[in-house]
Amino acid sequence: LENYIAVNESVYDYEPGSPERARLIEAIKDARTKVLDIPMIIGGKAFKTDTKKKISPPHDHQHVLGYFYEGSSDHVNKAIKSAMKAKESWAIKSPEERALIFLKAADLISGPYRAKLNAATMLGQSKNVYQAEIDSACEMIDFLRFNVTFMQDIYKVQPFSPEGVKNHIEYRPLEGFVFALTPFNFTAIAGNLPAAPALMGNTVVWKPAHTQIYSANVLMEIFREAGLPDGVINMIFVDGPVAGEVIFSHPDFGGIHFTGSTGVFQTIWKTIGQNIGKYKSYPRIVGETGGKDFVIAHPSCNVKALATALVRGAFEYQGQKCSAASRAYIPAEMWPKVKELMAKDLAEIKTGPVEDFTNLINAVIDEKAFDKITSYITKAKKSDEAEIVFGGTFDKSKGYYIHPTVILAKNPKYVTMCEEIFGPVLTIYLYEGSKYEEILETANTTSPYALTGAVFAEDKNAINLAKKVLYNAAGNFYINDKPTGAVVNQQPFGGARASGTNDKAGSMLNLVRWVSPRVIKENF
Ligand code: SER
Repeated sequence: LENYIAVNESVYDYEPGSPERARLIEAIKDARTKVLDIPMIIGGKAFKTDTKKKISPPHDHQHVLGYFYEGSSDHVNKAIKSAMKAKESWAIKSPEERALIFLKAADLISGPYRAKLNAATMLGQSKNVYQAEIDSACEMIDFLRFNVTFMQDIYKVQPFSPEGVKNHIEYRPLEGFVFALTPFNFTAIAGNLPAAPALMGNTVVWKPAHTQIYSANVLMEIFREAGLPDGVINMIFVDGPVAGEVIFSHPDFGGIHFTGSTGVFQTIWKTIGQNIGKYKSYPRIVGETGGKDFVIAHPSCNVKALATALVRGAFEYQGQKCSAASRAYIPAEMWPKVKELMAKDLAEIKTGPVEDFTNLINAVIDEKAFDKITSYITKAKKSDEAEIVFGGTFDKSKGYYIHPTVILAKNPKYVTMCEEIFGPVLTIYLYEGSKYEEILETANTTSPYALTGAVFAEDKNAINLAKKVLYNAAGNFYINDKPTGAVVNQQPFGGARASGTNDKAGSMLNLVRWVSPRVIKENF
């Protein structure tokens, strides 16, 4: 295993008639005919409770895919105990032994489990086949394999040893357990947040979002089949505040690996601060949070590329990506052409259930999200400062469907230019092309976030100016590309400001957060 060099997994296109497509259709059928019973897994044991909750596809909310069992603070305590117990043997396993388990998990997803994991993401999170393939199968495989390469790269970093001395860095896991609090929108992120610290020798309490439990359950099955010892990752389904109360006041709390909203992350950070005297070590706080990601067009840009990037960047997975394009600044003189091209692209996009692979837009995750997103649309319809140019329609009778919506804002600080909506809503502000530098400044100061952003320009000076003015405005900055779709080991992902701690998922910069090195100097 020495010098294991990972490569990115190839993406299947699920062409009609292909065996991959046939296998996936079979897996979807199979999932739809079953009603699963999903217990928590603590120390390798299944736990059920009296509180049973229904799981339905967001695009078909009357259908029942299964049930999960909600636990209490008792289960959180059990999960911590089992993580601490498992750590005794897990932390002293050789890195190779740990790596082989996660590489086996990657192989299982690449082969026998691919269809099952994709079907679970498609049905449970209402994600179309192409998006599921990229972010549940391929990105998960990439995380698992590249993490091993990154781990080996970290271990190679050793200090200088002069004559008569041996200096050595031991990459110990953190003291205590790690809490992984994971989001619904990317199955691969949900899996990587517990897997990355575990690879480095930590043991984990994993609380997936309730809306992702259906595919989390498949990930857990894969980890266990790959040989992950009991207790290394403990999956609990507990209400957030109930889990937080136990975890953040526990002396063995060693760190949190989080992806979710800025508000929740800030509450967690404050809670950790209040409890700081209780812990054995300062906990690692690693979090990726919200975004209000921009696209800025310069008059010199390629209009066609811009229009495609706006449609894909804003509406893939119904805009439920922290990286989604959600505000754009376009030269007014360019707008008629951009609008025409977007209209063409949007006319070709069908909305509907994921089971029909030609539906590229599916439902948003749940009723709460639907209500929040549509409230912005309703307000915009009534506002003098906004005009709906595309979409604006929605319907939750069968599934939580919202048509891709484009709002034209008359004011660059209009509410939908500033706040994260996390849905298929793009707001565009038209500026006078000669005022490019001013609009860069406006974009820089409009939102507290700094996750992703894109600039479209052919003019090299315009690109350089954007890089300079927007120096702190995005952790992932794209030039002539959409702001979504970061690939593991190609665009390490994460943002600063209100968007997170910027500990770049998909690079060794993230893995290094899960160790607490000890330096040993030995004289001869
Ligand atoms: N990595 C995803 C993207 O780049 C977001 O988490 O779209």
